[in-house]
Amino acid sequence: MSARLIQGSQIAAQIRTEIRQQAEQLQAQRGIVPGLVTILAGEDPASQSYVRAKQKTAGELGFHSLQEILPADIREDELLELVGRYNRDPAVHGILVQLPLPGAIEESRILYAIDPDKDVDGFHPVNVGRMVIGKPAFLPCTPYGIQQMLVRCGIPTEGADVVIVGRSNIVGKPIANILLQKAAGANATVTVCHTRTRDLAAHTRRADILIVAAGRPRAITAEMVKPGAVVIDVGVNEIGRTEQGKRRLVGDVDFDAVREVASAITPVPGGVGPMTITMLMLNTLQAAQRSAS
Ligand SMILES: NC(=O)c1ccc[n+]([C@@H]2O[C@H](COP(=O)([O-])OP(=O)(O)OC[C@H]3O[C@@H](n4cnc5c(N)ncnc54)[C@H](OP(=O)(O)O)[C@@H]3O)[C@@H](O)[C@H]2O)c1
Repeated sequence: MSARLIQGSQIAAQIRTEIRQQAEQLQAQRGIVPGLVTILAGEDPASQSYVRAKQKTAGELGFHSLQEILPADIREDELLELVGRYNRDPAVHGILVQLPLPGAIEESRILYAIDPDKDVDGFHPVNVGRMVIGKPAFLPCTPYGIQQMLVRCGIPTEGADVVIVGRSNIVGKPIANILLQKAAGANATVTVCHTRTRDLAAHTRRADILIVAAGRPRAITAEMVKPGAVVIDVGVNEIGRTEQGKRRLVGDVDFDAVREVASAITPVPGGVGPMTITMLMLNTLQAAQRSAS
């Protein structure tokens, strides 16, 4: 039987409708328009396209949207100065520095300079720490989006065996921390796998919910999935171009085979991807709401 498709694009559209309504309310009641600045240094085409997409979504939601496009040879002190300026700007509630940063700039120095109250990417150690101990925090956008997909699709996490493949700071580790919290939409039993894991398949086959963020095209095959499992495929891998020159993308999961085993699965594209930008907008709205209280 073919698995139910978890359509991230539809869930994201629903959340964006809610964000728009709340943003209108915030403006009507408090005169505050959520403000987001995206800072891009260099000319990496993928980064340019991510930043364009973030700007477009912010604009569609009626946010005050600013963009800083900087040369690849910008100095670290200049970037720090810019971040400091936006930290002090009351019209800006969210600061997003697009990664990777070019050249000799130490990313952590820039990210840690962002005011944690404006850190809508959720990468500042203050927010990471708050997330780990279960205090209100800006959650990193991709893991936050995954949790929202599960909640909004009615997939229970409480007591579920969740297995995560990948331990990056932006996906694997935060989703593990989010889902093991003693809280609604969490309370899972979490296992995190990586390249040093012995017998990966033995772990993935135990999963009620399998979350894959390895960056390895079609690494998860049908034999590695328990019948009836929910499979969340975070991977985005380019495997060539179509005849029209468009990028051909696949996930980390062998979609066609695994969908015959799983009960629900996210497609690539159209699964986790659309949730990520949407959660960035939700974090920005929440930063603006907090600034009013
Ligand atoms: N849709 C979205 O919005 C979104 C957002 C972020 C990322 N992504 C995609 O998600 C994927 C992962 O991104 P990332 O930034 O988390 O990647 P990353 O930093 O490269 O981390 C990959 C992780 O997977 C582990 N891994 C790699 N191959 C493995 C294997 N064969 N068996 C077990 N573990 C393995 C690595 O283990 P080690 O730690 O041992 O090296 C590492 O922890 C990429 O395809 C990326 O493009 C999508």
